[in-house]
Amino acid sequence: MSRIPRFQEHLKTAFTAEAASAARFRANAARAEGDGHPNLARRWQRLAAAKDALAVALLEAAEQVRGGATDLADAIAEERFENDVLYPKLIRDLDPATADALLRVVAAQKEHLRELEAMRQALTSAPGDVALPAEVADTAVRAT
Ligand SMILES: [Fe+2]
Repeated sequence: MSRIPRFQEHLKTAFTAEAASAARFRANAARAEGDGHPNLARRWQRLAAAKDALAVALLEAAEQVRGGATDLADAIAEERFENDVLYPKLIRDLDPATADALLRVVAAQKEHLRELEAMRQALTSAPGDVALPAEVADTAVRAT
């Protein structure tokens, strides 16, 4: 028996499909850019952004975006499950060369977990918004 209501499960399934499409479209854009087709790349990127918006709307409709420390706790639990249960199980079933791609994901996610924990610590230790580390502030400036 599922631990979440059926409507949420279906909306989460749709979210996963649209989020995966967005990432795939960004990969296609990068490939098109590398192949010397910058306009094709921009069109892929535009569709990827639309897919991202759909994914966000679906996750919100599934009532899975609740704000603050709740979202951080959910993200931390998800990353831990992937690193401690899901990916080790997949890695055990793969040849070493293929497993290496997933081992890189696990390593990257350890960094993501540290960042998520730091965000949760910052959010729960003082009222209001969290401080912005210098490297994050630099990224935000470049993105605009
Ligand atoms: Fe993850």
